Amino acid sequence: MRMVDLIVKKRCGEELTDEEIRYWIKGYVSGDIPDYQTSAMTMAILFKGMNKREVSTLTDAMEHSGDVLDLSAIKGIKVDKHSTGGVGDKTSLVLGPMVAACGAPMVKLSGRGLGHTGGTLDKLESIPGFRTGLAEDEFVKQVNEIGLAIAGQTKNLVPADKKMYALRDVTGTVESIPLIAASVMSKKLAAGTDGILLDVTVGKGAFMKNIDDARTLAKLMVEIGTRLKRNTIAVLSDMNEPLGMAVGNALEVKEAIASLKGHGPEDLMELCYTSGSLMLTQAKIAKDVNEGRKMLEETIRSGKAFEKFLLMVKAQGGDPSYIENPEKFPLAKHQIEVIAPKDGYVKSINALGIGLASMQLGGGRETMDDVIDMSAGIMLNKKVGDYVNKGEVLCVLHTNKDANVYEAIAKDVLNEFVVVDEFVSKQHVIKEIIR
Ligand code: URA
Repeated sequence: MRMVDLIVKKRCGEELTDEEIRYWIKGYVSGDIPDYQTSAMTMAILFKGMNKREVSTLTDAMEHSGDVLDLSAIKGIKVDKHSTGGVGDKTSLVLGPMVAACGAPMVKLSGRGLGHTGGTLDKLESIPGFRTGLAEDEFVKQVNEIGLAIAGQTKNLVPADKKMYALRDVTGTVESIPLIAASVMSKKLAAGTDGILLDVTVGKGAFMKNIDDARTLAKLMVEIGTRLKRNTIAVLSDMNEPLGMAVGNALEVKEAIASLKGHGPEDLMELCYTSGSLMLTQAKIAKDVNEGRKMLEETIRSGKAFEKFLLMVKAQGGDPSYIENPEKFPLAKHQIEVIAPKDGYVKSINALGIGLASMQLGGGRETMDDVIDMSAGIMLNKKVGDYVNKGEVLCVLHTNKDANVYEAIAKDVLNEFVVVDEFVSKQHVIKEIIR
């Protein structure tokens, strides 16, 4: 078999056989097939697509390209959650403790941010001392003891995705439905939980820009998971504007802490309640989503979710005094207010533009080797549907960069807000649920 023939076959819109897909992935991971041939193949897939059988075989080949986790030592029905990426998305930090506080073992392997999207591991590492690299036995022990662990992968899980995702990121081939489905599901299947809750983001700040593509992706992933006997549900959520008010690592951790104490922004909490109640049904802890929601609300009222977060931070070596006194997180040297130039209703806040601006302020990486400034980011003061008076603050930039950098970014950020005279209603964060 020759890789070039497979590329040509896909380029001409033909189906690849299972054997051909396995040959590609095996050769790519071993280094026999070079990056440039995989780039060509992913570009051909982006244009010509894959049928369900091809995606299912690709997912399986990727899942078994390295180790898989054995979570059988963890008691109970284990649940996991994965978002396809967004701006201001600190959902796992709030949802994880809430679900665990209801008694569902929450096993979460997270990733790092790249480009305009943030990563849960980076956010957690803004807590001094927090260790995201847990060995498998530590991970299992922690979930058995406190019901929750959020960590990066230490084992060689899904090396095919690690290699291919980095390549796709620099070759313009991220936004392919079959490739995203195989990337997400191979990782979730290798992580070995019983229930999988997928948050498929849709909008300007997401990889899926429209609801039809998001629905197709969600259905495909739910089908793959269900066929392999994992209880898989997808929530389609809005990512036109950033989620919540905070964008940037330490700023988002502070917002997560406030949310766990009952002061969370409406859209973030709605996403947590909707996703969490579905996860509680997957874990067979709630009989339906209404009961699940009540249980989750109680974890916030009683402070149990906050306590769970604190326990996780302590267990993973983080300094709990930062969680108890979030004002201890260092503030960036500069806070620059972006001011509304006119009265009106906020019609849109471009999540992609805000994510890119936060990255340029120091809050994200352009390449995997960049070092993040944990204090940098953007605090929104207004959301879509809010009324704003001329001269009021739309958002505040947090940065340690110099004025010549942040002044240009402040201008760009102002352009990400559209303010109109006509009434604008609030966005609904939940678009659809796909089972
Ligand atoms: N998230 C993933 O894990 N993989 C993709 O391909 C896109 C988003």
